[in-house]
Amino acid sequence: MLDEQATRSFYQEDSITYDSRWHSPGGNITNRAQIRLVQSVCSGWAHRRVLEVGCGTGRFSEVLARIGADLTIADLAPAMLSVTVERLKREGLESRLRAAECASIYQLPFDDDSFDCAFMLNVVGHLRDTQLALNEISRVLRPNGTLLVNFPNLYSIYFPAGARVNRQAKAVGQDVYSRWFRPCDMTSALAAAGLSIVDWYGHVHVPRSLHTNRWVAAMIGSLDCASRHTWLRHLAPVRFCLCRKSETTQ
Ligand SMILES: C[S@@+](CC[C@H](N)C(=O)[O-])C[C@H]1O[C@@H](n2cnc3c(N)ncnc32)[C@H](O)[C@@H]1O
Repeated sequence: MLDEQATRSFYQEDSITYDSRWHSPGGNITNRAQIRLVQSVCSGWAHRRVLEVGCGTGRFSEVLARIGADLTIADLAPAMLSVTVERLKREGLESRLRAAECASIYQLPFDDDSFDCAFMLNVVGHLRDTQLALNEISRVLRPNGTLLVNFPNLYSIYFPAGARVNRQAKAVGQDVYSRWFRPCDMTSALAAAGLSIVDWYGHVHVPRSLHTNRWVAAMIGSLDCASRHTWLRHLAPVRFCLCRKSETTQ
C-alpha cells in the first residue's frame, strides 16, 4: 500500500520519543483530555473482545486494560507494538492482553465478526485509503458492534493548519503523510462501511507549537472542555465518533 513503508519507518523511529510530547504543559493537557474522553466513552467495555488498531505506545491500550477489556492490539510499526506490550507488563496488565499483531489496518489478521468493540485513535489522518481501512475494521466487528474512531476536522477553528496539511500532504512539523477531513466525507465513508454514528464529541488539542506556553495551553484546555458536547463541537479540530455496525452489512 502506497506510503505504508514510509509511515512505518516514521513511527518505528518515533516510538522512542512519542510519549515525550505529553510532558510539556500543552501536551499534558491534550493527553489528559484524550485519556479522560476514552475512559468515559469506553467505561462499559469490560470483558468485551476489544481491538485497538494503531495502538502506538499504548496510552489508550492501558486505559482499556484497566477497564477490564479482553484486549487485542495491532500496529503497523513493530517498535510501537513492543512499547505497548512492555507498558502493559510494567503496569501489571498483561493478563488483559489477548494478542499483539504487527499488522496494517488494510489487512487485519482476524476473522470476520471477531470483536465486540474496536477503536482507532489518531490514526485515520495518516491513511490514504480511509474507505478501505473502515471497511476492514467493520469486517472484523460483529454486527451491532461498537467502533470509536477520531479524525482531524478540516472545518474547524484550526482551518488554516488543516488546509496547509492537506496542501502539503504531511503533518505540520513532521515528515509523515497526513490529511484532515471534511466531516461529511467521513460520515459517508463510515456509512459505506456499514457504520452509523450514534454519538460524537469535539476535542480541541493544543498544537505542538504551543505546547510550552502554559497560559495559552490552559485557555485551549478550557475551550476543549466546552467543545465536548455543546454547539462548539462542530468547530473542534478533532471529532471522536462512536459508531455502531449495522446488523446486516455490505
Ligand atoms: C499518531 S500515532 C497514534 C498512536 C495512538 N493511537 C495514540 O493516539 O497515542 C499513529 C499510529 O498508527 C500506526 N499506523 C499508521 N498507519 C497504520 C496502518 N496502516 N495500519 C496500522 N497502524 C498504522 C502508527 O504506526 C502509529 O503507531
